[in-house]
Amino acid sequence: MMALRVPEDWRAVAERILDAPGVVVVLGGTDSGKSTFCAYLGKRAAERDLKAALVDADVGQSQVGPPGCIGWAWIGQEGMGREQDLWFVGDFSPVRYLAECVVGTFRLVMSALARGAQLVIVDTTGLVRGREGLQLKMAKLQCLRPRHVIAFRRDLAATAIMPLVTMSSDWQTHVVEVPPEVRIRSREERRAYRLGLLQSYLAEATEEEFGPEILVTQAEKVLWLAAKGSMAVDTPHGGEVLQGDQAAGREIRPFPTPWERRLCSLEEEYGRCLGVGITTEVDPWRSRIRVRWRRHREGKVRLIRVSDVPLDLLGME
Ligand SMILES: Nc1ncnc2c1ncn2[C@@H]1O[C@H](COP(=O)(O)OP(=O)(O)OP(=O)(O)O)[C@@H](O)[C@H]1O
Ligand SMILES: [Mg+2]
Repeated sequence: MMALRVPEDWRAVAERILDAPGVVVVLGGTDSGKSTFCAYLGKRAAERDLKAALVDADVGQSQVGPPGCIGWAWIGQEGMGREQDLWFVGDFSPVRYLAECVVGTFRLVMSALARGAQLVIVDTTGLVRGREGLQLKMAKLQCLRPRHVIAFRRDLAATAIMPLVTMSSDWQTHVVEVPPEVRIRSREERRAYRLGLLQSYLAEATEEEFGPEILVTQAEKVLWLAAKGSMAVDTPHGGEVLQGDQAAGREIRPFPTPWERRLCSLEEEYGRCLGVGITTEVDPWRSRIRVRWRRHREGKVRLIRVSDVPLDLLGME
């Protein structure tokens, strides 16, 4: 691994940010040095005794919590701490979940500020191209109204994001160059990295079973309803919920959608994540679901949101 070199422009930008701390959003294409810059800025903040938080909005390989989530953690002299809060997206790319990614990032930044963070560093995905890139980045900025935006020039220069961001008077834009030391990671490397993140997150997980009192959803689908005796089934006309004896004499089968070995979020209500895990066994006929999960917050589990992406996309064959 090449040793970190702190480029001169990083040094200068960090000084300006630490003199006027607040919310900082770091933008740039894939393999630009975004996450390395965030870590550097966090370290410098700690040297100045600023209470600093990292919100990692990169669902593909968030350094906070498992992949498929965005999260926030304190960063201090000893580097990054444990996840303080997570927002479950359930996909490893933001493309199908742009709104979720924006809302989740916003909620986590608010959470860090409410807990007393003086500097909130927002790391983002490398998705800057096309309509999705534009929507994702501009919506995030409009929502967060950060004090500073760091723009890594290389890939951003080819997008409309760059001129739109620099012309705004709502924040200070600091354009930095992609350092020549940046290492381009292959697809395989990214997969392996994601897998490692998930495994280390789950190393502290415990298994638990939940029953019919829990609402279980996967995107827009419901596995079963909280009302006792009701069941979500698949019919030729799509999903249908049957109550009690409506099922009698009919040939029914549960949703064929796979629910097992999926990333999932255990929540008190939509968005209030108590911890994340993997579904190990799902039995819709008995309304039972088993999950291996790691809790980061107290609260009663009332909802389990299951990812609609197979784990093998993460490298879990
Ligand atoms: N200033 C630097 N000196 C040495 N190596 C660096 C420097 N900046 C980045 N790198 C290396 O380049 C690689 C990519 O950097 P980094 O992960 O920070 O990029 P990123 O923009 O966050 O990428 P991604 O889009 O995948 O999140 C890493 O291996 C990192 O260690
Ligand atoms: Mg990164």
